[in-house]
Amino acid sequence: MTAGAPSLLVDDISVTYGGVKPLDGVSLSFDTGVCGLVGPNGAGKTTFFNVLSGFASPSSGSVRFDGVDLLAMNPARRARWGLRRTFQQEQVIHDLSAWDNVLLAAEQTGGGRAEVQAALDFVGLDGLDRPGSSLSMLERRLVEFAKCVSGSPRLVVLDEPAAGLDAAETEQLTALIQRIPESFDVLVVLIDHDMDLVSTVCGTTAVLDFGKLIALGPTTAVLASPEVRKAYLGTADVEEQA
Ligand SMILES: Nc1ncnc2c1ncn2[C@@H]1O[C@H](COP(=O)(O)OP(=O)(O)OP(=O)(O)O)[C@@H](O)[C@H]1O
Ligand SMILES: [Mg+2]
Repeated sequence: MTAGAPSLLVDDISVTYGGVKPLDGVSLSFDTGVCGLVGPNGAGKTTFFNVLSGFASPSSGSVRFDGVDLLAMNPARRARWGLRRTFQQEQVIHDLSAWDNVLLAAEQTGGGRAEVQAALDFVGLDGLDRPGSSLSMLERRLVEFAKCVSGSPRLVVLDEPAAGLDAAETEQLTALIQRIPESFDVLVVLIDHDMDLVSTVCGTTAVLDFGKLIALGPTTAVLASPEVRKAYLGTADVEEQA
């Protein structure tokens, strides 16, 4: 970790919904670049993002970023502070142009036309006057990415951004994700089920299973660990599943 690099410190976070406990005492830290958060369906990944962005209130624990207490801020304040997220279901507004979709988001975080232009230049989206409804899935993801990098982001969390994209589109998005940390001096946390994508872009990866952290460390080692393979495949026998 370099001096001054962004650092997310999560300590003992639990979330309870009635009898369900989507997060159960999760502690982890992500230091720099693009970090991965993976785990089987229902493991608690999106709930973790909901805690970061303020959509879910944990029953215990703390979340700090560079010493700033995120849980002390409401969701709108977190967005103004620099928290950006994409959702599993993309949020592009059909009746607004690509440009206006990004402008609307930028204005909510104190940005304006200059920030929108810079963000759209970064993602490389053409035809900005086209309505959201006419955009392809990749173009919608690019609009979402532009929203994430507009203004002054500090922490960008991406929830399955490659879902529904083909191989070539995923490659384009992969290159973009890799450029975000250095271009904007932000920490990126990526949730995805595409392990090729996670292996390519994430230096560090955390694994959740049934709301608990079961692994955290260098991505290659984490994804190869028997406990992680067991969580995903139901067996630790790697050869059998290959
Ligand atoms: N608002 C809620 N009320 C009740 N249960 C919830 C709520 N949100 C999530 N859950 C439950 O919490 C668990 C974790 O859900 P979460 O969406 O965080 O999983 P995930 O790891 O993102 O899964 P996926 O890979 O399918 O997106 C699931 O069992 C889910 O049904
Ligand atoms: Mg999810």
